[in-house]
Amino acid sequence: SAEQQLNNIKITITAGPTREAIDPVRYISNHSSGKMGFALAQAAAAMGAQVTLISGPVQLATPAGVTRIDVTTAEQMLEAALAQATQNDIFIGCAAVADYRVAQVASEKMKKTASDSIELKLVKNPDIIAAVAALTVQRPFTVGFAAETQNVVQYAKDKLTRKKLDLICANDVSGTELGFNSDHNAVTLVWQHGEQALPAQPKADLAKAIMQHIYAQFSAN
Ligand code: PMT
Repeated sequence: SAEQQLNNIKITITAGPTREAIDPVRYISNHSSGKMGFALAQAAAAMGAQVTLISGPVQLATPAGVTRIDVTTAEQMLEAALAQATQNDIFIGCAAVADYRVAQVASEKMKKTASDSIELKLVKNPDIIAAVAALTVQRPFTVGFAAETQNVVQYAKDKLTRKKLDLICANDVSGTELGFNSDHNAVTLVWQHGEQALPAQPKADLAKAIMQHIYAQFSAN
């Protein structure tokens, strides 16, 4: 039945933020709640898929039937993602991965100084979705998200091409009503030969629509 069309399909989904330590009590992160990625995991499991959810630090219950791997940093998420990716048919990167981490994490709590400013040196984190899409053996059908506040679809197209993805969900995050931490979202799906806008709706419903579309493209591949 249509309900079980992802039977025997293995899917890995990343969700939530990553958290990059500054010192033992401070970190750099972002407003991702994990809701969108968890909704995708729930929708995929309801369609019969075997789902592994790699999650950053979030306050959400694991959807029924989903295997969850908790991570904190981008480097940990990369390791977990690469361990899963080659065993999976589809990989969806919904996590808001920190692009940079602190170059030298202080081993003790940093003390406030007399100076009015301090500098924190950041270094680039690995690009998880690009690493998965670059696999040459057992490469899964690879779907990314693009969180943008301007030129949303154009920047998403750039990411689709640069990261060699099969599909990208362009996510306008310029408002507070949709996207980060909201219960609602809207995306434009972009692939090499087309695009389709999915209107604002609860993340649970949007996740079903996104999964239907991913299934259609994956099985046409
Ligand atoms: O978690 P919620 O509160 O529900 O919010 C959902 C969301 C807005 C976080 C989600 O819908 C979303 O847009 N996720 C992607 C956020 C993001 O970091 O986008 P980006 O444009 O910076 O990254 C592009 C793609 O590369 C994403 O698939 C991202 O997972 C991936 N990436 C980015 C950086 C990096 N170092 N490694 C990556 O894999």
